[in-house]
This record gives sequence, structure tokens and C-alpha cells, in this order.
Amino acid sequence: MNTASQIEQGTHASERYAQRVNPEWVRLLDLLQMNVHYERCQGAELFTEDGRRILDFLSGYCVHNVGHNHPSVVRALQNELERCGPAMVQTHVASLAGELAEKLCERAGGGLAKVFFASSGSEGVEAAIKFARAHTGRAGILSAEHAFHGLTCGALSLMSDKFWSEGFGPLLKDTAAVPFGDLEALERELKQKKFAAFMVEPIQSEAGVCVPDPEYLRKAEFLCRRYGTLFVLDEVQTGMYRTGPFLSAHRFGVEPAMVIMAKAMSGGLVPCGAVLMSDAVYNSVYSSLPRAFVHTSTFSENSLAMRAALATLEVLESESLGERSIEAGNYLRARLVDALSGLEMVKEVRGEGLLIGIEFQAPRKLRLRLPYQGFAAVHPAMFGQIIVMRLFRDYGFLTQICGNNFMVLKVAPPLVVADAHLDAFVDAVREVVELAHSPGAFWSEALGLARRAFRP
Ligand SMILES: Cc1ncc(COP(=O)(O)O)c(C=O)c1O
Repeated sequence: MNTASQIEQGTHASERYAQRVNPEWVRLLDLLQMNVHYERCQGAELFTEDGRRILDFLSGYCVHNVGHNHPSVVRALQNELERCGPAMVQTHVASLAGELAEKLCERAGGGLAKVFFASSGSEGVEAAIKFARAHTGRAGILSAEHAFHGLTCGALSLMSDKFWSEGFGPLLKDTAAVPFGDLEALERELKQKKFAAFMVEPIQSEAGVCVPDPEYLRKAEFLCRRYGTLFVLDEVQTGMYRTGPFLSAHRFGVEPAMVIMAKAMSGGLVPCGAVLMSDAVYNSVYSSLPRAFVHTSTFSENSLAMRAALATLEVLESESLGERSIEAGNYLRARLVDALSGLEMVKEVRGEGLLIGIEFQAPRKLRLRLPYQGFAAVHPAMFGQIIVMRLFRDYGFLTQICGNNFMVLKVAPPLVVADAHLDAFVDAVREVVELAHSPGAFWSEALGLARRAFRP
């Protein structure tokens, strides 16, 4: 097929998607000049039908830890399909689920001894809410402000940023949120002894890649034990070696009662999630023969997801991608700090392993403050989106700003990313951010975009 007809097909695909799925999403991608049609994705590289190469520095929000379409995961899935084994028979013992659960628990350690499989992070969060309630006999669920736990009703109830929940209420009662890192506020809530669980991300991703004080999670775990609340970690983004260790919990030396995993579990190819928990928590739900299936889900334990997750674990470990995450993350952060130093709109570069945030701040100099305030007033995400757009369009890097903190650019390439890609990214970010420090093209383009975005 020639390129012209491929492009025509891509345009048709966009139109059909807009007509039948989500027109505003297509409009947004068009505005940001990010509506390209990917033809082939491999490792950290995405190739478009019009011949561009995009480097993925987002990883589908931490899905692609082993890179896109890792050949070993693809082969494992092909073999699984070809063997015509049991898939979703429902009334059988899913042997791959047992094998995967054993491997996950061995790696997670602590008291985590049982697994409930799900097909997404949100479904894992919903399960954790039910399991915590069943175990403690309490209804309340406590979370941290600006958390992201998913968009199903239970998970939404644990997210303080109203953008996500407006118009969808009423949500769960008996929830509360405390500032991340604030142990006094946490203890004040826990003391009421009405919370079944304190659910928290060990590093808050969408809140702006917020890395807590090393003592915070250990003390939070201690307080939870003291007041009879389950300490539950949402490792949907941070798990599967994203920050170095298998779980971020290992970095902080904590032993949660439950851990929720998803995203990178199955190589970015088959939806898969898991809730790891202690025997005691598990037994509160599956407490007798008649209750053996009291919480289940049709696609849970399906053989393609289990096979993909087993193959993904094997790749992560045989290629030492946890070590790679630490080494590449340290290198990238150091280079970014160096390259962005002295630029007044850069507040901080932070993160662990290859989960990195670059935080921006409003400029102090009057000549920049006026245009900045102008379009921050249009929409608070405007500044970050222009950075994302320029990185994509002008330099071929896919990134995004954090969902609950628009002033933080999330940097999370696949753990297989090459050093040369890291260096090229540093140069690109420096050039885009430098451009934002001079009154001119960056700001006039941004204002044009704002006008187009809000045109009825
Ligand atoms: C930390 C965290 N928890 C839970 C979820 C929800 O996962 P899913 O989108 O698979 O439902 C997300 C999604 O981005 C997440 O980042």
C-alpha cells in the first residue's frame, strides 16, 4: 500500500472513530497535533504511517515497562492461542492463574499470600474496597488528596479532584482524604476507627510524581495497624519494577495488607490486574464453600492475560529491567537537572527509577508573567499541553502532563529505553523549555491554540 492511501485510511479511521466513539477526543488530539496513525510499535519506538518515528516517554501511563510488543510476550501469546487450551471455561481451576499468583506473591513478599485477579486497575481498587470492608466490618475508606485510583464509582470516591467525579454522584459515603505525607492528619482520621482501609499510592503519579519522605509510609503503616485499618498500596503505576524494585513498597520497607497492581503486568498486550493480600484478608471473603465465588469476574484469570503476565515477568527479570530503571532513572534525572538549571520556570525534577516528574512554576519576570497568566486563565493545563505538543510535533517525543497536576510533565519511558534516547530527550526538553522562557513563538502559538480550543 502506498503512503497516500495509508494516510487516507488513517483519516477515514479518525472520522469513523469520531462519529461512533468519541468526537471530542479526536478534536483534542487534532488541536494538539498529536493525532497521528501509528503503524508499528516496538520497544520505545512508535512508527507512524507518514514515516515519522516517535519515542514513547509515557509508556501508556506505565503500561509498557518491557516496551511495546516485546517479542517474547508476543510469542508467548501466540503459543497460548495455538495450544487451544482452556480459556474462560469458568468452572475449572485456571492453572496459569495459580502459577502467576505464586510468582507474584514470592516477589511481593511480606504477608502477601493470595491473589485476586482483575482486568484493570479500577477493578482491583473496587475489589480491595470490598475485601477491606469484609475483613474489618467497617465501611469507611481513607485515601490521600490528589490520588488517582481509577474512574469506576468506588475508585472515584477515593479521588479528591472534583474534575473526575462531577456529575457522577452520589459516590460512596464514608470516605475521606488526607494530605499526602501528613501523618497528623492521617492519625486524626484513623483514630475514629471507622476506616476499613487507607489506600495510597507509594509514589503519587498523577498528583505530580510526588515521592514521600522515606519515613512517611512506614509510619502510616504503623498507624494503620494501631487503629485497625488495613494499609493498602495502589501500585498500579509503580509496580512491576517501574521504580526499580518489583514493588515500590520494597523501596520504602513497608508490608501492606493489600497491593493493587495492573498496567505493566501483561506487557501492554492484554488487560490484567491483581490484588495481592494476606491470607487473613482473603479468608474474610472466601470464608466457606458457598462463598467460594462470592467475588469473581468473567475475565479474571483468563489464560491470555495470565500467559502475558508470566512472559512479562520473565522479560523484566531476564533483562534486569529493575536495575535498568534505577540506572537510567538516575542518569536521566541528573541530566535533566543539569540541562534545566537556571530556567526560572523549572521548579524541580524528581522521581524514582524511570518514573520522573518535571515540575514547572509561574514565571517571575513580568514579560513572561503576562502571557503566562493570560493563558493559564484560559485553562490551567494550557502551559503543560503546549510543552507536550511541542515535544511531540517538533522533536518526536510522546509525553503527558499529570492528570491531577498540570504543572508536572510526566516522564516514564519503557524500561528498555536506550541511552541515546535519554540524551535526545534531554536536549529536546531543554530546547522547548528555553523557548518558553523567551516571549515569542511559544506564547503566540499557545494563545492561538487557546482560541481554537474554546471556539464553539
Ligand atoms: C495509580 C492508579 N491506580 C488505579 C488506576 C486505574 O487503573 P485502570 O485505568 O486500569 O482502571 C490508575 C490509572 O491510571 C492509576 O494510575
